[in-house]
Amino acid sequence: MMLTVSEAINQRRSIRSFRSDPVSDDAIYAILEAARLAPSGSNRQPWRFIIVTDKGEKTRLRKICFDQAFIEEAPVVFVCCVDLAAYAKAAREKRSQEFIDYGVIETLSGYFADPAVRELFLNAPDTDLNVHFPTAMANTYIAVEHMVLTATALGLGSCWVGAIGSAEEMNALFHLPPNTLAVAVLPVGHPVKIPPPRPRISLDSILLRPLPTRR
Ligand SMILES: Cc1cc2nc3c(=O)[nH]c(=O)nc-3n(C[C@H](O)[C@H](O)[C@H](O)COP(=O)(O)O)c2cc1C
Repeated sequence: MMLTVSEAINQRRSIRSFRSDPVSDDAIYAILEAARLAPSGSNRQPWRFIIVTDKGEKTRLRKICFDQAFIEEAPVVFVCCVDLAAYAKAAREKRSQEFIDYGVIETLSGYFADPAVRELFLNAPDTDLNVHFPTAMANTYIAVEHMVLTATALGLGSCWVGAIGSAEEMNALFHLPPNTLAVAVLPVGHPVKIPPPRPRISLDSILLRPLPTRR
């Protein structure tokens, strides 16, 4: 039985110690499907993944990620990448056609409902794809959090790893295609134990102005 979304949000912890029992293929597919279904700006879906179960690869990955031991310990590790080509003109045209085919166009509003503006975006020449890196990373992080919550909902543990040392070493290890960069590493496995919740700053301190009084 899977947890509900709010149960998964509440019960999720960063897990940094895993039992050795494997993660089922069904769970791996469910986690990937959760990533695939994530939303992204203009539906560009820039996320790409490598699934790592090989001991030698995990050892090398651990080294690249500042020697964090739980990366090697986890039965499966997802290397989460962005493909900047998702922002190139060819992909832009494809996604734009889908917006037409699926009737999304009719639901757009304001500036983006203007065919002249859409034409302008569509026909803009390809610039240096690297300018899209922050957008690609932000969108991919949404997919990664879908994976994290799905793992939790399945009774598994995970820990976001953003500390990736060297893009060159990552490329050498996984032969990443052109325009592809690793932005997060996600070890997943059965938790040794579930720790208590970690502290969070108060609601007051995240509100930039006070809540309107409740009706
Ligand atoms: C983008 C991102 C990168 C992170 N990178 C690391 C990491 O490299 N190593 C690590 O041990 N934890 C990492 N964390 C986990 C955080 O330390 C953790 O989410 C935070 O301390 C709150 O604890 P909790 O997740 O158990 O609630 C990362 C979390 C996020 C969201």
